[in-house]
Amino acid sequence: MDIKNLMVTGGCGFIGSNFIDHLFAKPDFQGRIVNVDKLTYAGNPENLRGIDIKYPGRYIFVKADICDAGLMQEIFDRYDIDAICHFAAESHVDRSIKRPESFIHTNIIGTFNLLEIAKVNQEKFQIFHHISTDEVYGSLGPEGLFTEETPYRPNSPYSASKAASDHLLRAYHETFGLPTTLSNCSNNYGPYQFPEKLIPLVIMNAVEGKPLPVYGDGKNVRDWLYVTDHCEAIWIIMQSGKRGETYNIGGNSEMENIVIVEMICDLLDEMLPLAGKRSRRELITFVKDRPGHDRRYAIDFTKLHRTLGWSPGESFPTGLRKTIRWYLDHTSWIERIKTGEYQQWIKEHYGEG
Ligand code: NAD
Ligand code: DAU
Repeated sequence: MDIKNLMVTGGCGFIGSNFIDHLFAKPDFQGRIVNVDKLTYAGNPENLRGIDIKYPGRYIFVKADICDAGLMQEIFDRYDIDAICHFAAESHVDRSIKRPESFIHTNIIGTFNLLEIAKVNQEKFQIFHHISTDEVYGSLGPEGLFTEETPYRPNSPYSASKAASDHLLRAYHETFGLPTTLSNCSNNYGPYQFPEKLIPLVIMNAVEGKPLPVYGDGKNVRDWLYVTDHCEAIWIIMQSGKRGETYNIGGNSEMENIVIVEMICDLLDEMLPLAGKRSRRELITFVKDRPGHDRRYAIDFTKLHRTLGWSPGESFPTGLRKTIRWYLDHTSWIERIKTGEYQQWIKEHYGEG
């Protein structure tokens, strides 16, 4: 596959920006990337600072909303798009519980717009890869794993909107023959994750000696994958995955939330000891549970491993240590998010709205 002009949606978010960085470093990708991002609160162009200079002529940024079908068509035509890697989404479960509207617009209507445009321009189109989540499968009991055959049972407005977009993708392959691939991945962690999600939130609070909020009894289980491993899996699937197929991606790292929070406390106590050698575990605060909180996620990624040879490279303890080191070394990135300065910069460079 020789992609010339790849549209990456949501490329200023956490996984999207890691993906762009990862892909440009690969010798088997020589094309251009057109990063289409609306720059919501979660989109930060600073995640890709200097990328246009590092890869001259190969990176284009367009501030745009994927819900604007006319604008998406214009971008398709202007940049001769022949592939899409679709990350753009509202991604935070707690926000979807408080205000679901934008999840319905972006995750469902936005995905529909992109599928329609790809369908209409199909003769030159190589691949539409859609990034989805293990949350579409619902919640597991103490045993078992999600496979690609697990029925969809989404429990939050976020996961329901992602499930809807997955179904649309499937329909566009089955009905119109659009060359698609879909991946359902577990919880990512690593550099540039917006500090509303568990790991960066706990790191930041623990650095500042603030309470560390743990929902419910802290025994909910997630499977964790280092973001670069996810990026590599996506690229392998885009290149070699069977069109119309779904692939689960997981990290082989099932952890209770409370265990993760304790690990972060202990690592930070070692890397940045508190005065008087106090333990940061004292900061752990159990708070009201998330409504509809899925108890356990766990992923069987045998299909991806057996058919395409992928498996995660990073172990959770080493990945977590690297992640904490990154947050400790990037205090100005964090500061600009906390103070809202990054939003001010976006307004100055790209205007309001
Ligand atoms: P994120 O919230 O960090 O980034 C989302 C990006 O999409 C932001 O840059 C935002 O500005 C952009 N965006 C939002 N609405 C848009 C719109 N209408 N038009 C254009 N751009 C828009 O999210 P993330 O954690 O990087 O997740 C990326 C994708 O991966 C999502 O589809 C998410 O569902 C999926 N996913 C995430 C995880 C995870 O653990 N973070 C795990 C599995 C799957
Ligand atoms: O499983 C993949 C999903 O992982 C992605 O599809 C989502 O986009 C991504 O946000 C993530 O969803 P989660 O809800 O699992 O991630 P979050 O970091 O919000 O929460 C992880 C777990 O930690 C979850 O069980 C809720 C809990 N939690 C979260 C926060 C923010 C806490 O206990 N305290 C907190 O303050």
